[in-house]
Amino acid sequence: MKGEKISVMYSEEQVNERIRELAAQINEDLNGESVKLVCILKGASFFACELAKRLTIPVYMDFMYVSSYGNGTESSGNVRITKDLESPIEGENVLIVEDIIDSGRTLAYLSDEFRDRGAKKVMICTLLSKPDRREVEVPVDYIGYVIPDRFVVGYGLDYAQKYRNLPYIGAIE
Ligand code: IMP
Ligand code: MG
Repeated sequence: MKGEKISVMYSEEQVNERIRELAAQINEDLNGESVKLVCILKGASFFACELAKRLTIPVYMDFMYVSSYGNGTESSGNVRITKDLESPIEGENVLIVEDIIDSGRTLAYLSDEFRDRGAKKVMICTLLSKPDRREVEVPVDYIGYVIPDRFVVGYGLDYAQKYRNLPYIGAIE
């Protein structure tokens, strides 16, 4: 498992510019209200930090670790929280920050979960979306890039835990 060929899909400069645009939109939409960013580990960590740095509204950050277990690489839809939030989200504006939406199962589960916990508003912001792979519809408020069905790495995204640290988004050839 070495030497996958990776081609640049979005450069570091392009991604940073896109995050700046997303943040501007969120600042405008939240209009001075505070927001709790829920970063879904590990993949969304780079994106969540870069996004948070560009928000001008009051920001609180929390982190959650989820795993969807099933047979092999396909997510089964059985989403399990393996590291929960530090604090309650009742009455808060929650912005779930995710690296990529594939089947949609993780985010469908989490939006329901956060609504059950009494969040005032649950919004979703994802760096990438692969609509061709969707199995469950989930309303997404902010999307960095809509991409075709290709396996991507970098900017937090991994292939077997590798390549998260690439500063750009690349596709495995
Ligand atoms: P979903 O529940 O099927 O939407 O799963 C989304 C999760 O699958 C993401 O948080 C990633 O961890 C993983 N994933 C899906 N596609 C890719 C990819 O192209 N590269 C890296 N991880 C991916
Ligand atoms: Mg993930």
